[in-house]
Amino acid sequence: MTGQRSDQSTVLAGILSGSAAAQLATIEHLAKPGFWPTKVSSPSEDFLGAAACGKCHPTIAATQAKGPMARTPARVNEAEVLRSHPKLTFQQGPYRYEVVTSAVGSTYTVRDDSHSLSASLLWVFGAGTVGQSYLYQHDGQWYEARVSFFGTLGNLNFTPGRALALPHTVEEAMSRPVSNTEVIGCFRCHAVGVTSESSLDTSHLFLGVSCEACHGAGRKHASAMQAEMLLAGVPNGEIDRELIIDPGQLGATDSVDFCGACHSTWWDVRLSGKTGNSTVISPGYRLENSRCWGKGDSRLACVTCHDPHAPLEHRAEVYDSKCLGCHASVAGASAPDHPGAACPISKTGCTSCHMPKVDVPELHRPVTDHDIRVVRPGVTLPG
Ligand code: HEC
Ligand code: HEC
Ligand code: HEC
Ligand code: HEC
Ligand code: HEC
Ligand code: HEC
Ligand code: HEC
Repeated sequence: MTGQRSDQSTVLAGILSGSAAAQLATIEHLAKPGFWPTKVSSPSEDFLGAAACGKCHPTIAATQAKGPMARTPARVNEAEVLRSHPKLTFQQGPYRYEVVTSAVGSTYTVRDDSHSLSASLLWVFGAGTVGQSYLYQHDGQWYEARVSFFGTLGNLNFTPGRALALPHTVEEAMSRPVSNTEVIGCFRCHAVGVTSESSLDTSHLFLGVSCEACHGAGRKHASAMQAEMLLAGVPNGEIDRELIIDPGQLGATDSVDFCGACHSTWWDVRLSGKTGNSTVISPGYRLENSRCWGKGDSRLACVTCHDPHAPLEHRAEVYDSKCLGCHASVAGASAPDHPGAACPISKTGCTSCHMPKVDVPELHRPVTDHDIRVVRPGVTLPG
């Protein structure tokens, strides 16, 4: 595997960035100069927050704020899920878990027959549509609660990947100590404005995945635009592209890797050693394994199907035109840019059959598989 990786990098060195760029691991993208999502760089005063961008980009700001990406994480007193579920419970063996929310805060308690431990929660991660996890601090150390809220259950269950078969003590059953670096990692993917890899200052963060998570710090762009508008009354449409990142300029492979900075890239999954159903939460890996991907084509990047500024579209027919960008809709109509045979079964609702929702361990809900394929009964999930 290592050999293959360095081959890819050598090839990459000879290719200008564009559609022929090789797939990379996120650490490789972060090591390159320039902006990449989750990179720790600009000083915090360079970040303005979505409200400032919204003054000149009101339509984008309004739709972006509606998606769950913009609504994760929150300080515990602002957590809608906890307010609407004032008492959450879960039990495993002798251990009884509870999160009780009142006007003063949310208290997390775990007890067995002889002991009881409590902590005041500090942060919730996840909009709650799917799941929500909890962080708290004790004596300067960060902890992640071993249980999370699941929208489909309307209650607590084990945080994915954190279940213990036989905890020895209430302490062990209650939480997992997390390093400062790991907590900073949560904020790098779930917020804007992290400026240090070693110390966490949450007072300057903009919570949620908003504009500058994908476009880089925007103060210079905003000042330049403002100056131009003062001068000319209206922006003349000429903008200095050095001052703000436009990910729309990326080729298909880099574009998928770009979203993969948080959703994981093909190489991130390979290097993690994950296989089978647990890879379904990594859309880039699944997509690039499908026959549709080929060597990469701008008609099949994440942004082909998803508007990064709007909530997820659930109606299957909306995606049909994306599939038909490459596939013939009538038998015999195939062409070099529309390869293969047309679907013998249907002319609409493509994703409902070819991108099935599959169960992922511990998520308590089915997740869309981005490995576009013909689903044959009895055939287990590939790769
Ligand atoms: C004072 C007004 C103003 C503010 C504030 C502002 N922009 Fe812009 N922005 C513009 C104008 C004008 C354009 C050029 C026309 C267009 O694409 O809408 C532009 C273009 C862009 C583009 C497209 C770049 C390209 O290469 O095509 C992006 C991305 C962008 N802005 C992001 C942001 C972000 C993120 C923020 C907040 C940090 C922000 N803008 C704040 C006025 C502004
Ligand atoms: C590499 C980036 C990354 C890091 C680091 C990260 N997350 Fe996430 N997290 C994501 C992405 C992307 C999703 C959305 C997954 C999806 O919907 O397919 C997500 C989803 C979640 C969800 C489910 C929310 C929902 O409604 O779907 C929770 C809860 C969560 N993360 C908590 C955490 C916590 C706590 C940490 C730190 C211990 C953390 N995450 C670290 C990228 C990250
Ligand atoms: C800075 C990290 C980050 C980047 C970059 C990022 N995402 Fe996300 N994305 C998240 C997190 C975190 C969530 C989960 C939010 C939650 O449910 O709490 C998410 C959720 C989503 C969802 C599910 C929304 C829903 O309604 O269930 C989609 C779709 C999505 N992202 C698409 C994209 C696309 C497309 C790109 C690239 C243009 C992208 N993301 C880039 C962090 C990121
Ligand atoms: C999850 C990543 C992500 C987030 C968050 C995000 N953008 Fe974008 N933005 C993109 C991508 C990717 C493109 C290129 C889209 C394309 O080519 O289809 C883009 C394009 C743009 C453009 C130029 C094209 C257009 O649609 O007018 C502007 C302006 C822009 N974004 C502003 C914003 C503002 C303002 C916010 C916050 C309210 C924001 N973006 C949040 C990823 C993001
Ligand atoms: C060919 C179209 C297509 C492409 C390309 C695509 N998606 Fe999706 N994606 C979908 C569909 C369809 C759904 C399911 C929508 C629904 O029914 O709710 C979905 C769902 C999602 C979800 C929510 C998963 C779930 O079921 O909860 C995330 C997150 C996501 N996509 C991210 C991405 C990312 C990141 C990429 C790029 C690697 C990507 N998608 C590429 C079509 C696409
Ligand atoms: C970038 C172009 C492109 C897009 C967009 C695209 N495909 Fe494909 N797809 C292909 C190519 C190329 C093949 C392989 C054709 C062949 O060799 O016969 C393929 C193969 C398939 C196959 C057969 C797979 C197998 O395992 O035998 C199905 C089913 C399919 N596509 C469905 C879809 C659906 C549904 C969508 C939209 C969600 C979609 N495709 C979007 C290019 C694309
Ligand atoms: C009701 C489920 C369903 C829907 C909806 C559907 N398909 Fe299919 N599709 C199938 C099945 C099943 C096969 C395999 C047929 C066979 O091989 O007997 C198939 C085969 C295919 C193939 C492979 C054709 C070949 O012979 O190589 C492609 C490409 C494809 N579908 C694309 C699409 C596209 C694009 C759409 C939307 C316009 C779509 N499908 C809608 C079920 C569906």
